[in-house]
Amino acid sequence: MTSSGTNHSEPAGPGPSDGAPWAAAWELLLPAASAPARARGRTLQAALREAVRTGRLAPGTRLPSSRELAADLGVSRGLVTEAYEQLTAEGYLRSDRGAGTWVGDAVRAAGPRARDLAPRSSGARADFVPGTPDLSLFPRTAWAAAHRGVLAELPHHALGYPDPRGLPRLRIALAELLARRRGVVADPERIVVVSGVAQAMALLGFVLHARGLRTVGVEDPGSPEHGALYASAGIGTVPLPLDGEGLAVGPLKASGVRAVVTTPAHQFPTGIACSARRRAELLDWARSLDGLVIEDDYDGDFRYDRAPVGALQGLDPGHVAYTGSVSKSLAPGLRLGWLLVPASLSEEVVERKRTMDLGNPVVDQALLARFLERGDYDRQLRRCQRAYRERRDALVAALASHFPGTEVSGVAAGLHAIAALPGRYGPLDRFLERTRAAGVAVRPLAQYGTAVEDGLRLVLGYAHLSPARIRDGVALMADAVRD
Ligand SMILES: Cc1ncc(COP(=O)(O)O)c(C=O)c1O
Repeated sequence: MTSSGTNHSEPAGPGPSDGAPWAAAWELLLPAASAPARARGRTLQAALREAVRTGRLAPGTRLPSSRELAADLGVSRGLVTEAYEQLTAEGYLRSDRGAGTWVGDAVRAAGPRARDLAPRSSGARADFVPGTPDLSLFPRTAWAAAHRGVLAELPHHALGYPDPRGLPRLRIALAELLARRRGVVADPERIVVVSGVAQAMALLGFVLHARGLRTVGVEDPGSPEHGALYASAGIGTVPLPLDGEGLAVGPLKASGVRAVVTTPAHQFPTGIACSARRRAELLDWARSLDGLVIEDDYDGDFRYDRAPVGALQGLDPGHVAYTGSVSKSLAPGLRLGWLLVPASLSEEVVERKRTMDLGNPVVDQALLARFLERGDYDRQLRRCQRAYRERRDALVAALASHFPGTEVSGVAAGLHAIAALPGRYGPLDRFLERTRAAGVAVRPLAQYGTAVEDGLRLVLGYAHLSPARIRDGVALMADAVRD
């Protein structure tokens, strides 16, 4: 503030030089200060009120003293004192005699607040939403240590724009991980670090669109996100049915698409593991028309009591684009993932990634690299694997005891299960209505596609719920539907 060093009758507030929120709002008040003298007081009050209401001045922000603000705005001190008093009376500001003036806590900004923008929880007593890991298992201590380590070791030049493909160190660590755990043919030169499977799909969508493709096949039932992501790139989707071995090849061939998105390790949502025969058939199809299989390995890290199912990409890297992320193993909020494409698409994908965001944040990339190199990632997977297996077992046992005759499938891997309940608990609409009223959120398999047989089939995510919560949730569900 211009008056620094003067003798204040009120404590000094933060000025623009502090970089405080006040600095931005101060600019807003300048036009008020140059309003005609008659209207100046009223205009100043309105501008200040607006700054508070829109959140430009956040609750708890300390305002400068009336003397300072008056000097900075070039108005009389009385005008500022009056504005402060008026807004304090209205509840926008609060003042402690002699201690200063603050933006009040009770003010509800008209503009969006962090709280308003946060994803809403369902408010259910038990929410079996699929696809969510247990975020309380996030390895905060190891992550914080890796963060400190990275900041200590990163040379200054490494903070410049990264290679759009990602930091070489991370690509090397990812190549080792994906080859070892998923059987991926992973050349670090060809890995692109992306912000999740979502970005991988969008990148592929743009590249395929630029090559003239206007449709891709998607699994039905499948992830609604796939359709939305390709739509964002101007590509339509053709829903393709499954059979007991995975994506059905007959309808795929008949559809005329040249690219298809699939989740072979643990089909979303049915949990089917694509059979060896079906894998070979899918790759034959791709080779026959030089097409592309887009492999979404969204939860391939978690398997419990079945032999590892390696990635399809390992069988034919020339016809498979492979993508995965840390969204299930660490946290979706990290927005970190990877994409490997056939050599023929590589340059176009990297150029798209470059024009989209100039690469992922380098500190995050270095952090994940260090986390992988030091074995922290493997430790995390083992820890989650133990916890999720226990939760899966709790779900299967609770369903057997409360809903005898239920067939549970898709439970050898992943973070969710499919429960086919006996018809006596139906019909589906009544079942959903009653469970909802009891505070239990469940989703019918039918919600994920058109090709779903009738009946009481539920998609139950369990990884984010404790075994006790799972048991309670299933018991609540059973009470709710009992006649
Ligand atoms: C089928 C499927 N693919 C991918 C993802 C994860 O996407 P991302 O890596 O962008 O978080 C999810 C998340 O729920 C999913 O259900």
